[in-house]
Amino acid sequence: MMNVLVVGGAGYIGSHCVRQLVAAGHRPVVLDNLVFGHRAAVASDIAFYNADLGDPVAVSQILRDESIELVMHFAAFAYVGESVTEPRKYYENNFVATLRLLEAMLDNGVKKFVFSSTCATYGEPQSLPIVETLPQAPINPYGQTKLDVENCLKAFAHAYGLSFAAFRYFNAAGAAEDGSIGEDHSPETHLIPLVIDAATGRREHIKIFGTDYDTPDGTCLRDYVHVDDLSRAHIAVFEKLERPGAAHFYNLGTGRPNSVREIIAAVEAVTGLKVPVVEDARRAGDPPALYADSRKAQDELGWKIKFTEVQAIIETAWRWHQANPEGFKGPN
Ligand code: UFG
Repeated sequence: MMNVLVVGGAGYIGSHCVRQLVAAGHRPVVLDNLVFGHRAAVASDIAFYNADLGDPVAVSQILRDESIELVMHFAAFAYVGESVTEPRKYYENNFVATLRLLEAMLDNGVKKFVFSSTCATYGEPQSLPIVETLPQAPINPYGQTKLDVENCLKAFAHAYGLSFAAFRYFNAAGAAEDGSIGEDHSPETHLIPLVIDAATGRREHIKIFGTDYDTPDGTCLRDYVHVDDLSRAHIAVFEKLERPGAAHFYNLGTGRPNSVREIIAAVEAVTGLKVPVVEDARRAGDPPALYADSRKAQDELGWKIKFTEVQAIIETAWRWHQANPEGFKGPN
């Protein structure tokens, strides 16, 4: 049993991870400033602190009071387009605040860290599927700030004995199987929730961003991975962090790409509803195809992908949506 501080534990991936930690017998403690997180996404019997990860006084206090042994960090801004127009926000929140968090950890002798990184650190990959050893060349400040943290972690592992794992997520999707928590971003930009909204009529239509890519049906290929599968990898890595200075990088994706059109068809199959579609221009900065080789996580962590089919992932998203069509209730 470990006492784990989950920074961003009221957000989409963080809140699912909190529940997986409980299921695995650990004690999660949540820190979230509720800028994007939802208080209702965290059960009321979990210790919750409304604080900022970049506030070293608050973080140090929590680390000590709760006898924290390991920190997981999910609290980043993640709008790729906004990162291009407002890079200050991204360097500040995703890099500078993370540095403050790491400093508070080191000052208090907490030396195990699990970091949410992204496939956006690879930019436009030179080959597919993406293996961890490919060059990382992000094409936007979002991906760059995540890569900057990865590099900072490497140096801290070497110099200070920090042990860490950085998980490079592909497209996180789906919701808890019981439909109790799920994806609720404001604004929403992710494909699956938008297609569901177009199916139910909450949105007029879904725009397909680009139909002339060099892919089988002309639309972009992405690797949609279930949020609970992602979460389980974060716990499976714990024993790898026992060795001081351990530095691990893992891709997390299913390795099975789906096109935008396939996602629309899968939502229609799951919901039984027709999705109105408008074909639109390409979105700036979208690589044609991104999908993972995640054999490293599978081999080294025994990571098992439960949701190998995108339709099963969409079923969980649909269940959450039907139970909570307006998302989480109450203010953030
Ligand atoms: N798409 C549409 N219409 C929409 C929304 C999306 O056609 O209304 C397309 C996109 O062009 C893309 C695919 O659907 O081809 C998936 O788009 P998302 O916005 O859902 O996800 P991304 O692949 O752009 O982004 C994800 C993560 C980011 C991360 C990025 C790495 O959400 O945090 O992968 O490339 F940075």
